[in-house]
Amino acid sequence: MLHFIIVGILVIVMAILTYLGLTGIGLLPVQASAQAIPIDWMFNYQVIAISFLFALIVVPLVYSLIVFRRKKGDTTDAEHIEGNTTLEITWTVIPLFVVIVFAFMGAKSLGDTRRVDPQAMVINVTAQQFAFSFEYPDYGFTSKELYAPVNKQLLLKMTSRDVIHSFWVPEFRVKQDIVPGRFTEYRITPILEGVYKVRCAEVCGGGHAGMRSSVEIVSQERFDNWVKEKQAEALAASQTPEERGQLLATSYGCFGCHSVDGSLLPNGGPSWLGLFGSQVELEDGSTVLVDEAYIIQSVMDPASQVVKGFSPMTFNGTDAGLTDAELADIIAYIMTLK
Ligand code: CUA
Repeated sequence: MLHFIIVGILVIVMAILTYLGLTGIGLLPVQASAQAIPIDWMFNYQVIAISFLFALIVVPLVYSLIVFRRKKGDTTDAEHIEGNTTLEITWTVIPLFVVIVFAFMGAKSLGDTRRVDPQAMVINVTAQQFAFSFEYPDYGFTSKELYAPVNKQLLLKMTSRDVIHSFWVPEFRVKQDIVPGRFTEYRITPILEGVYKVRCAEVCGGGHAGMRSSVEIVSQERFDNWVKEKQAEALAASQTPEERGQLLATSYGCFGCHSVDGSLLPNGGPSWLGLFGSQVELEDGSTVLVDEAYIIQSVMDPASQVVKGFSPMTFNGTDAGLTDAELADIIAYIMTLK
């Protein structure tokens, strides 16, 4: 009986030490998603069970090796035990009960993890060897990194262009395969602002180890600003130089002085209609061909070539910080006004 009490105490002490040791070394990264909480809750009880089982096996084993080892000169057989029904029922019923409890805990944890928010923001994820891309269908652009607001559920609809990949952000806990030919869904509610990494967690070829993307969780305000930037980029990329030129001319205020229908505006300059390729007479009586070089010089150094009958342009491209690319777009637009 004394042995049972000693071993019992040692098992409890060993279990506590094992649990403290395992949790103390920081097995898990930060909890950055709402789904991480039920998962970590479940994981914690598993670590408790693991610590106890480890102690329950190792302590009696080591205790027996030391205390019950054969004494010098003792050649008798050990006691012969035929079976113990009570013990066998006990070690069947208790684990059965524990497994059933864990099944219920697992079901609860899974339910919490999969909880659907109908307001979730949809992001379409495409994986291919060896990169992820993120399309925001509500906003009409695609990004190389996952950028999302905090405290809002994301619904990632994922598919692959080639082989099986897997979407895994350790701080979010949940992991999901990405399979070619079908869509898998991944719901996550980030709760902690920060920069994380999504890593591909399924061996997918030579570049598998490098298949990573940045995951940035930011405030709603920063997210809105990022969306605006991305939309502006997408719009600019979809426009022709002529379209960009017209918008630039509007924003730089060109149309305050230059018409595009041949009329002359009060205190303004020459109309842009039919301007490109025409000959204009300057103040000194010389004529000059309106080509790209002429327009660039007129915009960047307005006083250098004033057309006869007009005063020098008040807009100065150099002072306004007009870039070469912007000027090229504006010229492309002027060339369309025939
Ligand atoms: Cu994609 Cu590994």
